Amino acid sequence: MSQSLKKHLRSHGQEHLLDHWSRLPSDQQETFADQLRAVDLSLIARLHARRDTVEDIPAMIARAEPPPAFRLDPAKNPFSPSKARQSADEALRDGQLGVVLVAGGQGTRLGFDQPKGMYPIGPLSGKTLFQIHVEKIVAAARRYGASIPLYLMTSPATDEPTRRFFAENDRFGLAEEDLRIFCQGTMPAVDAATGKILLAGPGCLAVSPDGHGGMLAALHATGGLADARQRGLKHLFYFQVDNPLVDICGREFVGYHLLARSELSSQVVAKRDPLERVGNIISVDGRLHVIEYSDLPESLARRRHPDGSLEIWAGSIAVHVFDVAFLHRMVEQVDALPFHHAMKIVPHVDPATGRRIEPDASNAIKFERFIFDLLPSAHRAIVVEVDRKEAFAPLKNASGDQHDTPETVRAAMISQHTEWLRRARAEVADGVTVEISPRFALDADELTEKIVPGTKIDKDTHFEERD
Ligand code: UTP
Repeated sequence: MSQSLKKHLRSHGQEHLLDHWSRLPSDQQETFADQLRAVDLSLIARLHARRDTVEDIPAMIARAEPPPAFRLDPAKNPFSPSKARQSADEALRDGQLGVVLVAGGQGTRLGFDQPKGMYPIGPLSGKTLFQIHVEKIVAAARRYGASIPLYLMTSPATDEPTRRFFAENDRFGLAEEDLRIFCQGTMPAVDAATGKILLAGPGCLAVSPDGHGGMLAALHATGGLADARQRGLKHLFYFQVDNPLVDICGREFVGYHLLARSELSSQVVAKRDPLERVGNIISVDGRLHVIEYSDLPESLARRRHPDGSLEIWAGSIAVHVFDVAFLHRMVEQVDALPFHHAMKIVPHVDPATGRRIEPDASNAIKFERFIFDLLPSAHRAIVVEVDRKEAFAPLKNASGDQHDTPETVRAAMISQHTEWLRRARAEVADGVTVEISPRFALDADELTEKIVPGTKIDKDTHFEERD
């Protein structure tokens, strides 16, 4: 074993990782040494040391103001929805938009044994989340006669199956040059009490994806950010894999982002109740921040304006538009995205004895970055309110849970599509399941052009574009 590696580990109190070295086969010794060299041990030590320092959130919230917002009621906004749509149309026709989809999560709550994007969610079609998202991108590109490239983030666990799935399905119609799949980084888990890095098995560190905020570093390191610039993209529409309702490159959202000259815009919903489990977007000293629901004291969450509306009203749904130039600026700033600490149960092996340890309570810290931590650095950041029924139904939990299950997500899709058909003056019989393919119509307006008013729909129907 290299003495320098041994010394390096010892100087950071991580020499326990070599306790079982002599028992490893020689080829595994090599890969393990490479894995160890790749870890930034000083960073791990720094992160563990400051794990108990929390931001003074009550002090921040005491100075909180509502974020600059475009509300659903257009009378409250400085620009009209039609002006926003027009701006977005121009940018889209000009090929200024790309899309970032983050799909590197472990999907532990859902408990599906494939990447979450491969979950069959279409109520009638059984289409997967990936297919639905990509069909929206392809349909939008066709609408504007411009390409809209997709930058798709995976993690070591989801990368290979995701690539295979896209290859086997001809990328669901996306041109080869318009798809870049890139893998995010990982961080080792440490023992919460001692800061010692844990082993998942002999010769293998316990690592996990570095959070959706890992997107920025990974996009940069894999050349995606340079590619975006070279293609002349000015804005990246960002969303998460679990929400099939997302209106990708939605015109009003993108339009307000452009008109406000915002560097980072975020979609929000008006919170249903003060304690709803979503991130809260607030403005503090002129900068936007997300305060997680778990950090928001109940008394502050319940504060209301004289008209009865919540003071802290804006719930983030993790849909953003980033300026490409802003992202370029942020990659230069190492600390733009801090690491958060999450206490987790992490099974591991004792390096000395090789014994497997299955803790029954949280024993370890995982380090994760969150993409919304870019908000305070962004100039002219805004939030744009969207209608929850039209925009947000995340798949998080397995069947049987109360919220965000396959059943609740399918019900939200059916109700959105039924509403679109009714707006197109079709008559949808009660209890009938409808599904509208993104290839058939991307929104209620497009659907209205295709449906003859008075059309009766009295059996389950999937509206799909014929090839
Ligand atoms: P969640 O935080 O909901 O995590 O991710 P998850 O992996 O889907 O589910 P749980 O918590 O393990 O049950 C929100 C979005 O961020 C992506 C996920 O793929 C999802 O689109 N994500 C999360 C990443 O891409 N990388 C990460 O490291 C974490």
